[in-house]
Amino acid sequence: MNHVPVLLKEVIEGLALQPGDTVVDATTGGGGHGKVIAEAIGKGGTLISLDADKEALIYAEKTLKDMQCHLCFQNINFRNLEKALQACNISKINKIIFDLGWSTLQLEHSKRGFSFLKNEPLVMTFQNKPNKGVLTAHTIVNTWDMKHIETIIKAYGEERFARAIANAIVKEREKSPIQYSDELGRIVKDAIPSRFYRRSIHPATKTFQALRIAVNDEIGALEDGLEKGFQSLKKDGRMAVISFHSLEDRTVKRFIKSKVKIRELVPITKKPIIPSEEEITHNPRSRSAKLRIAQKI
Ligand SMILES: C[S@@+](CC[C@H](N)C(=O)[O-])C[C@H]1O[C@@H](n2cnc3c(N)ncnc32)[C@H](O)[C@@H]1O
Repeated sequence: MNHVPVLLKEVIEGLALQPGDTVVDATTGGGGHGKVIAEAIGKGGTLISLDADKEALIYAEKTLKDMQCHLCFQNINFRNLEKALQACNISKINKIIFDLGWSTLQLEHSKRGFSFLKNEPLVMTFQNKPNKGVLTAHTIVNTWDMKHIETIIKAYGEERFARAIANAIVKEREKSPIQYSDELGRIVKDAIPSRFYRRSIHPATKTFQALRIAVNDEIGALEDGLEKGFQSLKKDGRMAVISFHSLEDRTVKRFIKSKVKIRELVPITKKPIIPSEEEITHNPRSRSAKLRIAQKI
């Protein structure tokens, strides 16, 4: 299954792309947004495509191979944006887009345990081959103490049954280590009273979200990435951010607000743009998306 880019038209319009622009796609994924950006900036433009996941970039290189703009691919975390720009010989940019979280490609094909429906090792890093010693979901569920597991599930998953889930995880691992994503999915599901199940969302969704955020330090990376993106923008340059849950959106909203207060950014979207009913029907993953756009003064 291909990754369907979310709020595509809204991103392209909101970024006000011009031929010749230099644009950073901080979260390249399948290259869905990147391709339309590349078409809009044309031959004289430059697209810098980043992703922490090398496999995503290899895929995106194929998607973007016929584009006429200059292309520079960097397998790097966007929190290290300045290094990517240096490697591409770019000092300032006109636009930057962050489309946060995971892609359908990662969920379906990465074999890193992002899905509770698959029998995959509990890795959950965006990096396809995590370096030795890098934090994984396996380490969290099998070695962290119960309180610490409860804290992240509560904070990053906003899960009301965090304590019961942490308790169930610790009980299970006493029998034998928890190895696979579907196994963890079942443990979490069984820890939540069935009357609280919701029809459209698997009961393990929030816990998996929490583990992924913790493993990849997603909120810390977002704070760093937003600041570096802002620093790299030229005057009148724009940043667009698509978030998928309230922790991300809160971070983006707070960042924009703080820069607006000191007159460094002006919001282009007063309220976040959300997908239409039609988009949600075609692409259910878009249902929680929120797009915020701001311009540098
Ligand atoms: C939602 S997908 C992007 C999809 C893309 N816009 C498209 O249309 O195909 C998010 C991508 O961002 C990457 N990613 C997430 N956090 C990252 C970070 N801090 N630095 C670099 N890449 C990141 C993930 O590996 C994933 O491939």
